[in-house]
Amino acid sequence: MKNTAFSRSPQLMSETFLDGFIEPYFKNRHIYMDAVRMHGSPLYILEPDILVNRAIQFRKAFSRSLTWVKCFFAVKSNNLPLVSRLLIKQGYGLDVSSGVELNIALSLGADDIIFSGPGKTVDELELALANASTVTVLLDSIGELERLAALARKNRIKIRAGIRLNNNPDGLWRKFGIPLDALDMCYEMSKKEKYLDFCGLQFHSSWNLNALKQADFIQILGSKLKRMPKAYLESLKFIDIGGGYWPPQGEWLISDQPLEHLHLPADSINHFAEALVGSIREHILNLTDCDIYLEPGRWICNDAMHILITAIDRKEEDLVIADGGTNMVGWERFESDYFPVLNLSNPSNTETPFMILGSLCTPHDVWGYTCFGKDIQEGDILMIPTQGAYTYSLRQHFIKPLPSVVPLRRVMVDEQPYEYSVAMMPQPEDE
Ligand SMILES: Cc1ncc(COP(=O)(O)O)c(C=O)c1O
Repeated sequence: MKNTAFSRSPQLMSETFLDGFIEPYFKNRHIYMDAVRMHGSPLYILEPDILVNRAIQFRKAFSRSLTWVKCFFAVKSNNLPLVSRLLIKQGYGLDVSSGVELNIALSLGADDIIFSGPGKTVDELELALANASTVTVLLDSIGELERLAALARKNRIKIRAGIRLNNNPDGLWRKFGIPLDALDMCYEMSKKEKYLDFCGLQFHSSWNLNALKQADFIQILGSKLKRMPKAYLESLKFIDIGGGYWPPQGEWLISDQPLEHLHLPADSINHFAEALVGSIREHILNLTDCDIYLEPGRWICNDAMHILITAIDRKEEDLVIADGGTNMVGWERFESDYFPVLNLSNPSNTETPFMILGSLCTPHDVWGYTCFGKDIQEGDILMIPTQGAYTYSLRQHFIKPLPSVVPLRRVMVDEQPYEYSVAMMPQPEDE
């Protein structure tokens, strides 16, 4: 889950920036504390309004200057069915990467699903074929193309297919997609396959703080497409430029000083859209008037889910054990990433060194090395905000049970907007 290739140098995070970030969570702390009182601790909190706002904002950024844009939420970034359900209601399609995710999408009634990812099994391809009216398969290799073609022929089912292009042949990224040079060969093969409706192309690059990498590949793709036959260009119905948009607050990392945090700023989504739409217009839409697909994950769900835990054992003046462990996030996130831990029970805008560790029987179970709180006492409720992306989906059945998710609903109270109340909505297990 780590970004190891920075396109910008980290800078020290300013206190003002951090103050602005934590302020709304302290302001609404009674709502989050009520959720713990009602539903117990530890807990995931989902804020549907934030999710929906992000979805609207993201689409607006691109659809302002492109007519045919379709957004597909990358289910892997947060696989809580309610998240996908809310996004489907906003007109999003779903981007799935396995049979498990495809089954989630189908059970939610998604009517536009793209299935991408390497190493699709025969069972997964058959599931896609059985749902060919709603699924488009993005093929990751020539072998996969042959496997899907054979199954489609055998079952006499026609299915939409696209090719995933490799946009980074270095190291571990080689595993994704088909090299651009192989596009001619794919086209020749596709002409012989009457059960495969080849109608699109996809590429994806991860962890972009700005649009440079994606815009560069759009240019490279444009020069390749220029040399493809006219009939091929006419058969293209979509070009999918993937996900990988870093949320506007940027990437935050710990440093060797507990009170100094590193910050890699990210461009706003309007800046991403401006650069990408410019590149698409210049290099793609002059050749084909296909639709543009986008597959955002992190940008949509990052800010919409938080983690609440409770201090249960204050072992030292500056060390506390919480009831929740980092099996809730599934990886040792906070040994490298920085996120403020807020003491909702005893808040303070001053950050203090304090080791906040989880209750798993491993030293790598770290929530943070500092706290925004006057102190931490046993029973205090702690919040780690904005943990919606690549945490819930990676949660592990490891040592401790998995906590529930509680969705919050924004309501009007005494004509005051933006108050919250805990909404009793079904838990994921019930869905
Ligand atoms: C093919 C594909 N599309 C979309 C995404 C979503 O990326 P992000 O969550 O960074 O937007 C991923 C993430 O790995 C991906 O592999």
